[in-house]
Amino acid sequence: MEITNIGVLGAGVMGSGIAQVTATGGFDTVCYDPDADAVERAREHTTTGRYGIDRGVERKKLTPEEGAAAKERLRFTDSFEEVAAVDLVVEAVPERIDLKIKVFRDLDAAAPPGTILASNSSGFPVAAIAAATERSGQVLTWHWASPAPVMKLAELVRGPDTTDETVAAVVDVATRCGKNPRRRGRFPDQLGLRGEPCVLRGHPRGPAGGPGGRG
Ligand SMILES: NC(=O)c1ccc[n+]([C@@H]2O[C@H](COP(=O)([O-])OP(=O)(O)OC[C@H]3O[C@@H](n4cnc5c(N)ncnc54)[C@H](O)[C@@H]3O)[C@@H](O)[C@H]2O)c1
Repeated sequence: MEITNIGVLGAGVMGSGIAQVTATGGFDTVCYDPDADAVERAREHTTTGRYGIDRGVERKKLTPEEGAAAKERLRFTDSFEEVAAVDLVVEAVPERIDLKIKVFRDLDAAAPPGTILASNSSGFPVAAIAAATERSGQVLTWHWASPAPVMKLAELVRGPDTTDETVAAVVDVATRCGKNPRRRGRFPDQLGLRGEPCVLRGHPRGPAGGPGGRG
């Protein structure tokens, strides 16, 4: 599946940076947050902020044209339906399992059948989040490092049902966003790759921290 547009759920520290990166990477990106102040802060972070697009242009990481195009591809919304109506949603809401489960349930109901749902959770098992949906094959963790516009780390954690197609599509997006993903096989958790620039780790049939990683 080819991803062309991306939704980011949550415009906080991580969500704003993720949205900036995916827009800069060439994806039409819409970022949703129910808090209007968070959206205003995100607009600032992604443009004039320390790691924002304008600074990227000043530091010659981007040409002025690339910066302008990235800004054009990035928009913010207060419509949940709009953020769900994309090819890939990256969730970056606060780290509370009840909230993650609720937003994944709502995303599953609102998103088109083919949409991939990724969580930036730092620690919750992807299996628990995927179980809130009817599309567990299209759910995975994409854990970003902070600050997202700078750090190359892109940990992809698959759940028990995550399909190879889902992983491949997200690896492609991560690559196009400059995150250097490495594909290491069906159960890459067994390879002990933690700390690589992009790590594809396995599903958490085992306990958190045990074989299969924290999931
Ligand atoms: N901060 C980090 O260094 C870091 C690094 C990696 C992963 N993470 C993970 O990323 C996620 C987000 O962390 P953060 O630091 O960006 O948090 P944050 O508090 O800065 O931002 C969270 C945003 O989500 C918004 N939000 C709340 N409920 C929402 C909802 N129902 N729908 C959409 N948006 C909603 C809030 O208004 C807020 O703007 C967490 O799961 C965290 O564990 C954080």
